[in-house]
Amino acid sequence: MGPENGPDATRKKIFVKTYGCQMNVYDSARMVDVMAPSGYTEVDQPEDADIVILNTCHIREKAAEKVYSELGRLRDLKKEKSVRGESLVIGVAGCVAQAEGEEIRRRAPTVDLVLGPQTYHRLPEYVGRLSNGGPGIVETDFPADDKFETLPAPERRKTLARGATAFLTIQEGCDKFCTFCVVPYTRGAEFSRPVTRILDEARALADAGVREITLLGQNVNAYHGDDGKGTAASLGHLIRRLAGIDGLERLRYTTSHPRDMDDELIAAHAEVPELMPYLHLPVQSGSDRILAAMNRRHDAESYIRLVERIRAANPGIAMSSDFIVGFPGETEQDFEATLALIREVGYAQAYSFKYSPRPGTPASAEEDQLPEEIKSERLQRLQALLGEQQIAFNRACAGSTMSVLFDRRGRSESQLVGRSPYLQSVHIDDAPESLFGQIVDVAVEEGYRNSLRGRLLETAFVPA
Ligand code: SAH
Ligand code: SF4
Ligand code: F3S
Repeated sequence: MGPENGPDATRKKIFVKTYGCQMNVYDSARMVDVMAPSGYTEVDQPEDADIVILNTCHIREKAAEKVYSELGRLRDLKKEKSVRGESLVIGVAGCVAQAEGEEIRRRAPTVDLVLGPQTYHRLPEYVGRLSNGGPGIVETDFPADDKFETLPAPERRKTLARGATAFLTIQEGCDKFCTFCVVPYTRGAEFSRPVTRILDEARALADAGVREITLLGQNVNAYHGDDGKGTAASLGHLIRRLAGIDGLERLRYTTSHPRDMDDELIAAHAEVPELMPYLHLPVQSGSDRILAAMNRRHDAESYIRLVERIRAANPGIAMSSDFIVGFPGETEQDFEATLALIREVGYAQAYSFKYSPRPGTPASAEEDQLPEEIKSERLQRLQALLGEQQIAFNRACAGSTMSVLFDRRGRSESQLVGRSPYLQSVHIDDAPESLFGQIVDVAVEEGYRNSLRGRLLETAFVPA
């Protein structure tokens, strides 16, 4: 019997560390799935593992550099292990792997395997070769064969359903080429998975106890998957189909581009109760000049009108966004236009970043790069405003009743934490264990900057 099937096989361990966006979280779970048939189980620290994979992000310089400091620690671990006669395979997957390829092994020779985001279904083959003493591997192709078709079928994938919430990648890659962004280079061209595959995966997740699915894509609302009848299904259509699945009570999607919010998707926000009233719709800047230089293909006015249309369809919807400050050539006036847009839209939550020049992107070659101090100062002002809006939104929730999906434990034994329809963390004390994985009504008592505190409504008690 080979090591793949023998009794020793169960002792093999894999540790995957995830950086970056939710798509990497999804991919990491699938890497664990793909190794399961070879006898690998997941562990939660590198010291216990035979294979360590860093699933990396290249979006900003800081994100990419974190990987090299982690590789330094892993090099030491590999040495310690080898003194004990144990081996450790070190892999770098994800977007840094795609962007830097061979360079990673030059900078960190301890790395055995470099694997782009479109090739991780071949992980068992590569690990097999390395375990047999083969040379280091660098694989950054965008293969024509679809990785989703080669990955294990949903019924074999229990690992993805790790609780009541799950991610499901429906679309990958991006054709937008915003001038600051590496994603079109690291993830490749847009690709949508067929509707039937997504429905199968969602049913398997619902059967495994998942109540809330977040549909993922770098450009998720550009989704145009094969509907099996020779035509392309839109995201709005897909959401309606998913909403019909038994046991699936909540749907979300991220991340969207303003240009791809079509009428069908907006109508879904009005008509599909399972679709949560929260939308992450990145605008990046409020200055038309900067938006044009970013190649965002929309201006501030059209974004604001779009938000109005979405709110007309569903007045309760809460908005979220991403912002970049200090894009090359951004003047104080441009920056103030961003603050004005934020005041006009009003956000429940948002992410904001200092512009980080990324190798190979057009904006990184611009001459009028801004000094770090200006970027920091603008980021601080922007975050102060966004913070005010977020606190105001959370405080306004106090006194209301919200449906909360309890999905994790709090700091103390008896505290449970869940998520509201608006993706806020809701803490309740003295929570019965039986609420785990359930959606129940909570009376919100207090709103803080990053969370809410509530108590169970009497009617929410389900006798054990
Ligand atoms: N696909 C998504 C987001 C991809 S990256 C979209 O189109 O909105 C997530 C966020 O990182 C972006 O929205 C942007 O705000 C930020 N980002 C991307 N490249 C960046 C860069 N070079 N510097 C700073 N922030 C960046
Ligand atoms: Fe990057 Fe723009 Fe594509 Fe978003 S839409 S992934 S920011 S290129
Ligand atoms: Fe980062 Fe790649 Fe996601 S660059 S944000 S991990 S698509």
